[in-house]
Amino acid sequence: MKILFAPLQGYTEDAYRRLHHQLCGGVDEYYTPFVRLENEEIRSKDARDINPKHNEGVPTVPQVIARDGKELQTLLTTIIPLGYRHIDINMGCPFPLQTRHGRGAGILPHPDKVIEICKIIQDLSADKEREDGKQVSFSVKMRLGLEGRDEWKEIITILNDTPLRHITLHPRVGIQQYKGETDMEAFEEFLHLCNHPVVYNGDITTPEQIEHMASTYPLHGIMLGRGLLARPTLAAEYRQGYELSAQQRIATVKQLHERLLAHYANVIPAETQRLMKIRTFWDYMEPQLDRKQWKKIVKAGNMKNYLAAIDALSV
Ligand SMILES: Cc1cc2nc3c(=O)[nH]c(=O)nc-3n(C[C@H](O)[C@H](O)[C@H](O)COP(=O)(O)O)c2cc1C
Repeated sequence: MKILFAPLQGYTEDAYRRLHHQLCGGVDEYYTPFVRLENEEIRSKDARDINPKHNEGVPTVPQVIARDGKELQTLLTTIIPLGYRHIDINMGCPFPLQTRHGRGAGILPHPDKVIEICKIIQDLSADKEREDGKQVSFSVKMRLGLEGRDEWKEIITILNDTPLRHITLHPRVGIQQYKGETDMEAFEEFLHLCNHPVVYNGDITTPEQIEHMASTYPLHGIMLGRGLLARPTLAAEYRQGYELSAQQRIATVKQLHERLLAHYANVIPAETQRLMKIRTFWDYMEPQLDRKQWKKIVKAGNMKNYLAAIDALSV
């Protein structure tokens, strides 16, 4: 069973993915935050993130978000020539800025748009005439629906008829964002009706939970998001079959953070901006650390206090 690192805008950018892969491991594939169009071009920030030079040696899967076939085609025209052979399609983003325009989970209530996307996938997957002889394949990451937990049933036949490596399901609806329970009953029904390998995603934070999911369901994989940000060694701990002590985990977190900070020192010259950027590293760490120590880190107003707060973390 595969372990996939979920895409998380603002967190799992290229530098983080590279360092995580080097220092923590345990992850089979890293999914990039969604790449999107702005004025009909790929945003320069996204282009940097998927630049193969910045992803060398890391098993990276670029993710795209598109509201129709035209947008997808434009995105793929840039991404496929970079050499990627597996591209993930976002049909799950719950942010209203995207869903309002029919992107992410906003596409789920529109089977006609899903058909447009699937037609392109079908054509490209079947394209054996590519100059380099290499085919491109696709996966989909989705939710149950935008508003209703049964919306996926309107498109599952379309998806089943489309060649896909797998479908990752986060069993919530878009308007829930990340609130409320994941709907495991709906997930089981999806598993039953989906012909593709299925990856589970949602609220997994410990090696036992991974173990439980793997032994309960016939899964192709588990995609970990916030749980892996909070505990970067989570995937490696599951793979090696034993848990690290809290001290060992903090030591790895510190090392990862130190390397990430060194990276930002080269690319963000202004200290205030650098502090704002690096502090996000700790956003999801609260449950893993002493609360007071965690607060000192995320509330530090300058780099000196910030570094002192990290130094004080008990190892
Ligand atoms: C801050 C943030 C950014 C996210 N960005 C993306 C994204 O770019 N693409 C995507 O498919 N999902 C995105 N997600 C959703 C996650 O990939 C994942 O599906 C979600 O967090 C649930 O998994 P988890 O409980 O393991 O975190 C984002 C989630 C958060 C909290």
